[in-house]
Amino acid sequence: MPQATYHFPKGFLWGTATASHQVEGNNTNNNWHAWEEAGHTVHKSGLAADWWGGRWREDFDRAAETGQNAHRFSLEWSRIQPTPDTWDEEAIEKYRLMLRGLRERNLTALVTLHHFTDPLWVTERGGWENPEIVGLFEKFTRKVVDALKEYNTLWCTINEPNVYTMSGYVQGAFPPGKKDLKLSMRVMGNMIRAHAASYRAIHELQPEARVGYALHYRPMVPRLSWSPLDRLMRNIRYEGLNMAFPSAISTGVMRSPIGNQNIPEAKGTQDYLGLNYYSVDTVWFDLFKPGELFSNSGYPKNADMSDTNFLANIPEGIFNSIKWIERTYPNLPIIITENGVEDSDDHMRPRYIAQHLHQIWRAVNFNWPVKGYFHWSLVDNFEWERGWTQRFGLWGLDIDTQKRIRRPSVDFYAEICKENGISSDMVQKYCPEVFDKLFPS
Ligand code: BGC
Repeated sequence: MPQATYHFPKGFLWGTATASHQVEGNNTNNNWHAWEEAGHTVHKSGLAADWWGGRWREDFDRAAETGQNAHRFSLEWSRIQPTPDTWDEEAIEKYRLMLRGLRERNLTALVTLHHFTDPLWVTERGGWENPEIVGLFEKFTRKVVDALKEYNTLWCTINEPNVYTMSGYVQGAFPPGKKDLKLSMRVMGNMIRAHAASYRAIHELQPEARVGYALHYRPMVPRLSWSPLDRLMRNIRYEGLNMAFPSAISTGVMRSPIGNQNIPEAKGTQDYLGLNYYSVDTVWFDLFKPGELFSNSGYPKNADMSDTNFLANIPEGIFNSIKWIERTYPNLPIIITENGVEDSDDHMRPRYIAQHLHQIWRAVNFNWPVKGYFHWSLVDNFEWERGWTQRFGLWGLDIDTQKRIRRPSVDFYAEICKENGISSDMVQKYCPEVFDKLFPS
């Protein structure tokens, strides 16, 4: 049997990612709380993983003890600025404590400023539909960066603007639950403007900062490669979902299938690109989806499907995503800001991790500048409209007792982080079913 180790570059960041509303608990002043109360989610977030109650300490301990050297988390705007005219200094102090907690444990922080949730007062004023959001988000940025810059230099302005707009304004599963393609692109335009303003504000306050955003990049293939309609739909959907934000950053013009927007101030506003990669979509023409410009998506038959059929395990997709980034922005540092799978009994996660890291390693060996990997997620957390039905944590969570459950992936990932690489012995131990794929003899 072959014996080998796929090593990663020195200084590679090995971490996990979380987001405020998904782990903090008792978040009652934002649009997601209202959405849960209105019955739009399978479960409510409740106490979540109780980080606001202080359990971030034990979870950061777990991360550090299992060899991780980085963590990505987000700030909850609705806690920091509960009303338009007030700042909650105690909330800011808690985030300062968390950042200090990461530093004490030798974990590099990556801080996200917006991860899907908006303060209720922002929603009441029209949220991201209202162009005033650009100034509001810049003001929030200035406040938190000024308060926290002593502890952090790596910032992510907005998480997955394309998922926020697609889920909230096209499919209607996220608040505000609208189905209006045109409006979704207006919202996207405002998100790009707010990102650009935030990028500049951070650099003004902290010249050494490295600032980017997290893109949910979704490779896509037509269901029938010979079908002109499926191919057309694939291209339209790909443009609409993936390209709006990156095109604006590249050229100052936001491309969209329903009309471009000039946003010159966005050009060049990234110091790294955060890639959130989960799977590859198969796309086809669907007469019953006029709201999505007649396209629909799913996964190939016979795919290696996850627990709740949410994801297909398609590891080559992460290689192709990195390749796309490298071709689009040569030499731009790339951070994998999210990658993971919902898997309550951990039967798939080890191979999902091994196969994706193997693909990232391939990219690294072309000297493509991948600087780190943040697994989604450290501990099971509130999965938005899907509530607690999906379990993405390395650690499981019993929401009734707050007890953490050590899944085998905890130890697998710990070995990877400590080795700064992935070895044939590890794969043999945790996911022998893919050994031949990773280490062919
Ligand atoms: C989001 C996370 C979410 C994950 C898994 C990503 O799109 O950024 O908040 O938990 O997907 O669904």
